[in-house]
Amino acid sequence: MSKVTVIGSGNVGATVAECVARKDMVGEVVLIDIKPGLSEGKALDLAQAAPIHLYDTKVTGSTSDYTTTAGSDVCVITSGVPRRPGMSRDDLLSINASIVRSVTESFVAGSPNAIIIVVSNPLDVMAYVAYMASGFPGHRVMGMAGILDTARYRCFLSMELGVSVKDIQALLMGGHGDTMVPLPRYTSVAGIPLTELLDADRINVIIERVKMGGGELVKLMGTSAWYAPGAGAAEMVEAIVKDSKRVLPCAAMLKGEYGYSDLFIGVPVRIGRGGVEHIVEIDLNDEERALMSQSAAHVRANLDALQRIERSQA
Ligand code: NAI
Ligand code: 2OP
Repeated sequence: MSKVTVIGSGNVGATVAECVARKDMVGEVVLIDIKPGLSEGKALDLAQAAPIHLYDTKVTGSTSDYTTTAGSDVCVITSGVPRRPGMSRDDLLSINASIVRSVTESFVAGSPNAIIIVVSNPLDVMAYVAYMASGFPGHRVMGMAGILDTARYRCFLSMELGVSVKDIQALLMGGHGDTMVPLPRYTSVAGIPLTELLDADRINVIIERVKMGGGELVKLMGTSAWYAPGAGAAEMVEAIVKDSKRVLPCAAMLKGEYGYSDLFIGVPVRIGRGGVEHIVEIDLNDEERALMSQSAAHVRANLDALQRIERSQA
């Protein structure tokens, strides 16, 4: 049975652990956090929920003791600072980079063959930071954002159309931020193209809400979301441990695909035991390509900004 480590036992990390445990698909989930007692407490709470939800997954927790994570097959990194009202994901750049780098280094020492899923923000840059810190090949590091962003898109479409979310298939690419690129041409309801069901103005209203979807929740709650993000990361864990070859939108390391290299950004990928097993390249029209290019430029600018900050601190 697989072993999954979740680094950061806050709102998102605890939700990932709960979602993974409830699917009863791995042998053990290890929670780890820097805050004393937090992981131990949440793990015990989740262990006590097992007789009610009826899962056999063992859930354990530790405070910064990475020996407990050794031999993990998958690691989900959620450690870091979340957004507060008025902050963008990019405001978290420097602080979260140092956290993501240090937890990645601590983790990979005991789990050199694992697959890493990054959740911490700003997502695409943090995936790059984990990739560099791990020394892993690109296909064994990925970022969770596209599943969350398409879930928001599908949710808003289901509300607008009055149909079940189960019948909505959607694709969204680009970075996890206001420049994300929802793709109405690749969105359908039970096989019917979205563009035949809604006019362009209504679609645009929904797309704008999706782009600001994270901020809408930060305004309401004073911190960022966790149920849908946690469920999104757990869906990726499931695709890996079950080797199910799901095609999901994830931040992946591009090596020439879509014309970009040495960059993590959201694209459709096939996920299995090997991590990102294939990057699916779809045809984009001129408008979609231009939006993707803006989004990639934004991620690249953030990466450059991080490198400048780190050089100035060195
Ligand atoms: P949170 O504050 O509830 O939890 C973060 C946890 O990280 C805390 O428990 C903290 O003690 C821990 N932590 C901090 N430094 C650490 C270290 N060096 N080692 C181990 N643990 C450490 O925050 P939340 O809401 O769980 O969000 C976590 C991150 O995920 C944030 O960066 C947030 O922006 C991001 N996020 C990303 C999403 C996405 O779609 N990619 C969606 C939602 C959140
Ligand atoms: C979200 O989109 C903050 O990235 C986080 O909810």
